[in-house]
Amino acid sequence: MSIFSGLEEIVKTDYPLANNTWYRIGGPAEYFVSPQTVEQLKDVVGKCNENNIRINVLGFGSNVLISDKGIRGAVIKLEGDCFAETKFDGDQVRVGAGADLRKLVRASVKKGLSGLEALTSIPSSVGGAVRMNAGGRFGDIGSCVESVTLMDGDGNIFEKSKPELMFDYREVNISAKFILSALLKLNEGDPEQILRTMKEVFVYKENNQPPLSTRNSGCVFKNPSGFSAGSLIDRAGLKGLQLGGAKVSEKHANFIIAEKGCTSRDILRLIDAIKERVNEQCGTELELELEIWD
Ligand code: EPU
Repeated sequence: MSIFSGLEEIVKTDYPLANNTWYRIGGPAEYFVSPQTVEQLKDVVGKCNENNIRINVLGFGSNVLISDKGIRGAVIKLEGDCFAETKFDGDQVRVGAGADLRKLVRASVKKGLSGLEALTSIPSSVGGAVRMNAGGRFGDIGSCVESVTLMDGDGNIFEKSKPELMFDYREVNISAKFILSALLKLNEGDPEQILRTMKEVFVYKENNQPPLSTRNSGCVFKNPSGFSAGSLIDRAGLKGLQLGGAKVSEKHANFIIAEKGCTSRDILRLIDAIKERVNEQCGTELELELEIWD
């Protein structure tokens, strides 16, 4: 592995990715890299550039579908402890991209800080959540983000702050390859009220979405302006539709469940079938929220 010489401890070749995603589907990465420090990350980026190796950045894999064939190039996951550091300072918290969003939500609620309870039960890394402005009807992470520390594809590190940093529905204007950390501004509030809201969000999701114990990637399609994609798919009569091992959830139609034996191809076929039927029946072109990696 001369390309990554000196970095053998953090680079694995032909590494199965399935267990790094919530669908637990898909082939191997040509190179799977888990840098432990920012310096190592810079080093890896440099070596990838020198050797024309494509870089994919993986968070907790809750919003990606990996092709059955696997991924050419490097898949980089910020797994080192330094990428998960979480430091509260009054009503602010600086948190690494590799930190667990669900743990951050619980820690904030425990401190009586409000702002993140809307994100209860979203299985994501903080970096992934910022990258796609994770959220739902209760709020999104973008409303708390003051600034982010980024690394571009050449290894340069820089900050981007509000108002230059703008969040929209499942979008943010970050083009840099890596989000390293985020500074979030929360609000001191009544701990009991915050806990109550967290429980309400939790219960709402328990009642309306398939459990996290099933293999799914959350909502597959973005909501078209003014509509719920789930309700359009439901109205098209597609709940329970199954192709191979991929099945439209009976509980919330914007979720695809991977049943036993499901392949990435099964999910792609089901996505196409859903798009076609919703377009025929409602005249709406559904757009993917799920990222397809091939
Ligand atoms: N509905 C149906 N049938 C369905 C699903 C939904 O009739 O199969 C109806 C519901 O009864 C409700 C309406 O559609 O009246 C909206 O449903 P819901 O409250 O579940 O919200 P959503 O717009 O479908 C959004 C986010 C979810 C987030 C929830 C709750 C998107 C694409 N989805 O769903 O986010 O969890 O709000 O906050 O923005 C995700 O992004 O992965 C995700 C799951």
